Amino acid sequence: MSTPLVNEFDNWIRTRFVDLNTELESLYFAQDKKEQIQGVGEELKLALITEGDQFVQQLLHEGNTDEGFDSGFDLLGNVGFLMSASRRHEMDEKHPALKSASALAMQLGASLGVVPRFASAHLETHNRAQNGKYKTFTHLDDEKVFLDYNTRGVFGFIRASEALLHILPLGVSHPVTLDLLNTAKDALEKVVENNTALFNELDVDRFFYNVRPYYKTHKVGRHEYRGANAGDFAGINVIDLLLGLCRGNDPYYSQLLVDKFLFMRPEEQLTLRDCMRRTSLMDEFLAVSDEERESQWFKINLSAFLDVCEAHGETARQHHSQLISRFIESPAAKYELAHRQDMTASGPPLEVLLAALQKLHDLRTASYREDIQTRHQDVQTLRSYL
Ligand code: HEM
Repeated sequence: MSTPLVNEFDNWIRTRFVDLNTELESLYFAQDKKEQIQGVGEELKLALITEGDQFVQQLLHEGNTDEGFDSGFDLLGNVGFLMSASRRHEMDEKHPALKSASALAMQLGASLGVVPRFASAHLETHNRAQNGKYKTFTHLDDEKVFLDYNTRGVFGFIRASEALLHILPLGVSHPVTLDLLNTAKDALEKVVENNTALFNELDVDRFFYNVRPYYKTHKVGRHEYRGANAGDFAGINVIDLLLGLCRGNDPYYSQLLVDKFLFMRPEEQLTLRDCMRRTSLMDEFLAVSDEERESQWFKINLSAFLDVCEAHGETARQHHSQLISRFIESPAAKYELAHRQDMTASGPPLEVLLAALQKLHDLRTASYREDIQTRHQDVQTLRSYL
């Protein structure tokens, strides 16, 4: 249940807000220099921020109406949509309207236990459709293509993570563990299929110029918060940790988790925290005694486990060498924008982000690296048991 005012704001976000953003995007896209935002469509930008602010002012006045977590989280998403669009249109961050939006976002974020900005759950797993349409920034087909496939991808990872979580109480030698490993593998293979479809259907320039800019880092109150990305859900890390490809005591990986926690919904934060304290399936397989390795279950379940690792590695390879390369790296190089400070959702320059993502790729694919510890050797050892 939400208050009438919350519903009116939601309705504005689903209609007029989308119209204004779409009009602005078509003005930007019609230019030779499509990244040129300043001085273009100024009256539309002003309408966006002043109309949005009227709702925000009233909502601030209405105060904490305690309509429950989901309602508060949804409202935070709507304020976040407004702030991210203002950032995308490069409006002055000292604009009084943004101060009020910050105040409302901080009140909501702090009370809910999440970052005070919109996160990927608002776009993907918790984006309620009305009459077939979920919330988007624009009416552009490419935004819908991107979000449809992102949401499918996220649910694919979640399905795989849930199957792996069910293995924990059963142990690696349980006969039904085989079924669960196969379920995880199938779900990850679906992610790969889904990413291939995204790769083929998404228009590079539209995504680069008109969709991604809404996911930039921006300020709320005094602090800068990184943008939303499709990775802000626990499932992907649950898979990393339970398979054992990434480890919570690895400083690079734990930093990534620390930075990510508050971008997830609280129930996801709990799941992930719990996983950080578990023994991975890889370590369980490695700990099987010489004698037990002769048992029938061992090779069957181990082989299925290694297939899941391979499928997870494939999703990482694909994300890196197809999606990031085609939709970010290549256009940034082609249009000579790679050195722009705001190229990435998380803030660092593109080459720094790419090096960090390469590390993640190498962990997930258990590749050999001299400078960091991956599970390359352990995977080889397990393979030798087959
Ligand atoms: C993170 C690009 C689609 C899953 C990222 C990041 C980039 C990126 C650049 C790093 C964010 C930052 O810190 O700036 C892309 C592009 C896509 C795409 C260009 C398609 C056009 C997807 C899809 C999924 C996905 C469909 C599947 C759910 C992730 C995950 C992360 C992430 C899990 C967090 C880092 C990690 O754990 O791997 N993506 N992405 N991405 N993306 Fe994507």
